[in-house]
Amino acid sequence: MKPPIIVINFKAYENSFGNKAIDLGKKIEKISKEHSVEIILSVPATMIYRMVQEVDLPIYAEHVDPVPLGAYTGAVLPEMIKDADAKGTLINHSERRLRADEIDDVLKRTRKLGLSSILCVDRYELVYPFSLLRPDAILIEPPELIGTGISVSKAKPEVITKAVNEIRKSEGIYLIAGAGITTGEDVYKALKLGAHGIGAASAVMKAKEPEKVVEDFITSALKAISS
Ligand code: G3P
Repeated sequence: MKPPIIVINFKAYENSFGNKAIDLGKKIEKISKEHSVEIILSVPATMIYRMVQEVDLPIYAEHVDPVPLGAYTGAVLPEMIKDADAKGTLINHSERRLRADEIDDVLKRTRKLGLSSILCVDRYELVYPFSLLRPDAILIEPPELIGTGISVSKAKPEVITKAVNEIRKSEGIYLIAGAGITTGEDVYKALKLGAHGIGAASAVMKAKEPEKVVEDFITSALKAISS
């Protein structure tokens, strides 16, 4: 993981799985390679293995369950996504919350397995305390803006600024901003406010030409870090 970090969270849209997801992944891979910017794809658990085989980008899980190996029907464990060749996982997304003790347990296991971790928080006040659990990155997303098309960088820039101040108290953890990120301008602003990257879902997953949206993200991110 290195800045500018761009995470596309596939979630559970109609094109988040099967051949449509593979086609989208391949389009994003092409743009990623053209601009030499790595893009992280977080995908449904059922798609991890196939994505890893067919798309040359870091593939993450969207969630892992905080339960040990054993009798836990339906659980997706860190060990399972590792076996499917995922590079890492999101943890504690607003749409899939965990308790703080569960987050700690999961992070200890992902670290032991050599998996990267992006820990989601919904407010800047949690950035420093959760950084003590040593994820690789923290993704801050005000839940009320998720899926709205109104970006955190425009509607609540102070959330990013405050989160950036909090992450600076911990060494070596990246701060990613998300929620409503739709345009290159949103990306540019988030990075100029001090974020190391952005996370997005609906703007890409619902786009007619998702590759153009991702290209706009990348060029704006590169512009932000070079100016
Ligand atoms: O994980 C990123 C996601 O929650 C942001 O969603 O649709 O607002 O880009 P969206």
